[in-house]
Amino acid sequence: MKDLTPARDSLDAIETASRDEISTLQLERLKWSLRHAYDNVPFYKEKFDAAGVHPDDLKDLSDLSKFPFTVKTDLRDNYPFGMFAVPQEQVKRIHASSGTTGQPTVVGYTAKDLENWGSVVARSLRAAGMTPGDMLHNAYGYGLFTGGMGIHLGADTLGLSTIPISGGMTSRQVRLIEDFKPKGITVTPSYALSILDEFNAQGIDPRDSSLEVGIFGAEPWTNAMRQEIEQAFDMHAVDIYGLSEIMGPGVSMECVESKDGLHIWEDHFYPEIINPETGEVVADGEQGELVFTSLTKEAFPVIRYRTRDLTRLLAGTARSMRRMEKVTGRSDDMIILRGVNVFPTQIEELLMKIDGLAPHFQIELARPDRMDQMRILTEVTDSNIGSDTRADAAAQLSAAIKQSVGISAKVDVGDIGAVPRSEGKAVRILDNRPKA
Ligand code: DLL
Repeated sequence: MKDLTPARDSLDAIETASRDEISTLQLERLKWSLRHAYDNVPFYKEKFDAAGVHPDDLKDLSDLSKFPFTVKTDLRDNYPFGMFAVPQEQVKRIHASSGTTGQPTVVGYTAKDLENWGSVVARSLRAAGMTPGDMLHNAYGYGLFTGGMGIHLGADTLGLSTIPISGGMTSRQVRLIEDFKPKGITVTPSYALSILDEFNAQGIDPRDSSLEVGIFGAEPWTNAMRQEIEQAFDMHAVDIYGLSEIMGPGVSMECVESKDGLHIWEDHFYPEIINPETGEVVADGEQGELVFTSLTKEAFPVIRYRTRDLTRLLAGTARSMRRMEKVTGRSDDMIILRGVNVFPTQIEELLMKIDGLAPHFQIELARPDRMDQMRILTEVTDSNIGSDTRADAAAQLSAAIKQSVGISAKVDVGDIGAVPRSEGKAVRILDNRPKA
């Protein structure tokens, strides 16, 4: 793999600023953001008043902990535009979450917000090793989802030549990579695996492709998966994180030269980690739920938004801004099986170690006879693998799960294609247990 480390002088000044400079800027922006939300969004005024806090109470960054949290249902309750802080004619773009579990969450951006979004995504793409003039194959979905258009905006800001292919039509994805020869690909890690399968199905060695870096996010993925993808494509694989409520992709980004967690673009997004049970802020280095406050957003300011994502904050390395560790999962995706907590990423990690098993999997939960059961559906890497070897691989995975997670899971190893593929975010869990 080529060294893609960006030139130090190509970075934004704030990326290498001192901690003092960063905190000073954050405090100034945080005061503005609290005031902006309080003055322009009735929801925040009511929430702050009820909690007995006022934007003027913020003298120090740590004073933020006095302010109330915002949660997903607050956004749903104010559907569609109740949380917007500017008149509709100043809203230049609207995105929304898929809303599979109810009311979609709607977010908006002013012209200035779009400019800032473009700038943090440009920073992220540069951190991945992309430089102006490079070609990018953007396979995140275009539409209401922030992935496709958010990456596109940043690619324009950085000066890339972008292929807005979006997700789907996998054989065309491979053909365009072969014909156009992009340097980078932006895609969910699960869809990257489908593209990989398609390369193999067409008899093309993905290691011979032009791709030098893959920029993966929108869903959790493990370091074991990173190794698999890096090997298979002979390219770097880096992690990009974001959520529509805070902006979209580009809230934090892993640097290609260090691959040691994701630097949070702290000049726009202020992070805290809280104990998800008590809501108390915990110290850097401790695990908990990630909470973000926007520092510059005009159309849709968010104060102490509980992301449900579990991680911890670490000091900066390749950049001055703090890092967040790779997200292991969302508290919503945590499976509680007979009292044991388990995340799909734990299964992924174990599965990747077993020869003959492909990195595709789905977890099915059922409750026959009032006992929770977990079944894992995965598949072989090669259809010539015989039934004895399949049974052996299933037994190995089941034993590994028992040993490291402490639960019994039934493993079924199907043929290639047995696990449903996604063109965006993978559906890892099918919960067929009766609702309480
Ligand atoms: O997934 C934005 C995005 C697009 C990020 C493209 C990166 C690339 P939402 O659809 O609002 O936005 O989903 C946000 O996805 O709270 C996490 O649970 C999860 N997520 C996003 N990036 C990562 C990542 C986009 N790198 C939710 N690792 C977040 C783990 C991620 N989980």
